[in-house]
Amino acid sequence: MYNSGMLKLKHVTGNYGDLVPIEGKKEIPFEIKRVYYIYNVDQNVRRGFHSHNQLHQALICVKGSVKILLKNPNEEEVFLLNDPSEALYVGPMIWREMFDFSEDAVLLVLASEYYNEDDYIRNYDFYLEEAKKYYN
Ligand code: TYD
Repeated sequence: MYNSGMLKLKHVTGNYGDLVPIEGKKEIPFEIKRVYYIYNVDQNVRRGFHSHNQLHQALICVKGSVKILLKNPNEEEVFLLNDPSEALYVGPMIWREMFDFSEDAVLLVLASEYYNEDDYIRNYDFYLEEAKKYYN
């Protein structure tokens, strides 16, 4: 899907366990300025419902599983995240919704910028108008 997609991360494994190292501009295509994680989400909760103007993000389900719906004016796709050695890259101007969190799910998010509410587009109709300009 345009401006997004699954990235396979480096995965160091052995008798002593698993390790996944992530360096900005190496494993993922941006410098990391912010990290947050989402957990303790009830199964019936759906969250997200926004796009970002500028922000780049990488979503990694480090424990459990979660589904991510990504949309732009021309495409939509649901990604199942259930492998800590995979990241879903989400670029600017993509609508996202997160759902079907497993009880133990921990969704780690790496972001290219500090938190800025002004970068959010939370109205879907407004998103579609802006995204049509962006994608043309
Ligand atoms: P929000 O991005 O709306 O969550 P989601 O899209 O996953 O439903 O953020 C939820 C709340 O958390 C909102 O009040 C702002 C706050 N927040 C921060 O303070 N810093 C952050 O980096 C993020 C992502 C959210």
